[in-house]
Amino acid sequence: MVVKMSVKESLLKALLEGETVSGTELADSLKVSRNAVWKAVDSLRKDGYTIQGQTNSGYKLTKASENLSKPQFEKYIKHNNLDIHVYDTIGSTNTSLKEWALKGKNEGTVIISQEQTEGRGRLGRRFLSPQSTGIYFSILLRPRFSAEHSLCITTAAAVAVSDAIEELSGEKAYIKWVNDIFVKDKKVCGILTEASIDFESGGLDYAVLGIGINVFEPDGGFGEELNNIAGAVFDKREDGIRQKICAKVIDNFFDIYENLPNNDYIVKYQNRSYLNNKEVKLSVGRETVSGVVVGVDDSARLMVKLENGELRAFNSGEASIIKRYNK
Ligand code: BTN
Repeated sequence: MVVKMSVKESLLKALLEGETVSGTELADSLKVSRNAVWKAVDSLRKDGYTIQGQTNSGYKLTKASENLSKPQFEKYIKHNNLDIHVYDTIGSTNTSLKEWALKGKNEGTVIISQEQTEGRGRLGRRFLSPQSTGIYFSILLRPRFSAEHSLCITTAAAVAVSDAIEELSGEKAYIKWVNDIFVKDKKVCGILTEASIDFESGGLDYAVLGIGINVFEPDGGFGEELNNIAGAVFDKREDGIRQKICAKVIDNFFDIYENLPNNDYIVKYQNRSYLNNKEVKLSVGRETVSGVVVGVDDSARLMVKLENGELRAFNSGEASIIKRYNK
């Protein structure tokens, strides 16, 4: 699919490649007026880009903006068959992408937003998604494997996020089964996968994988309710890092997804298990059990040694830590 870029996007793409862009040449190549190019420059400056020069001398980007833009993502993301849509603000990237899925959009459609006003978490919770400090995105998938393997989308995403965090921040990332990422004992990322099953084929009609990462701490913190639980990947703000982390997660995820349901990646998940050796309370439907986590098995089930000594494997549930288990 060929998606036509706006004058602003074409200009930004050229500037991000480090070129000095001649306004006249760009106007000629896009078949637009020089005034249209000037307006695009003005609009990028208003978005926070520092651009030196004028139409005659050529434009040069001297400082990128923290604003998210499609050309920036296209520059950073290796997988080039994605259809990326970038928003300043949106209700929920998952909600919008589910609507698009029903309208027939293809696998690889991605919605990225700078802010969500109605960010959603698991179990009907809300996911705090403030402007400019986090990154919130959803990926549309049309998996070829059967619905019984659907959990691997979430676990693959958890590995993709942890790898990206470790590579870009140098901090160790842990996975709290089944889909929360922890850095320095604080939750820095949540994952919400929503899927629609095709009962005739036993496969998934679509899955929407939603990922929210607290890249920096919001001004004024996460709020009273979340301050003890939520954390950020980086202590200090760094230009462009939100775009890089998002791009890396998307690339890492598709590297794994292309081989699913092959589960070679699960070793990385198991090695990062945050709950190992911890005493937990686990709610599964109406049942609540407690015990000590002994690990995660190859099917991503949580292995818990219950208080009565029985070893049980859980493929779903909500785990909360009771206390640290001293061996
Ligand atoms: C959780 O921690 O319970 C899951 C949080 C998932 C948040 C992401 S942000 C992008 C996508 N859109 C949403 O509304 N939710 C997911």
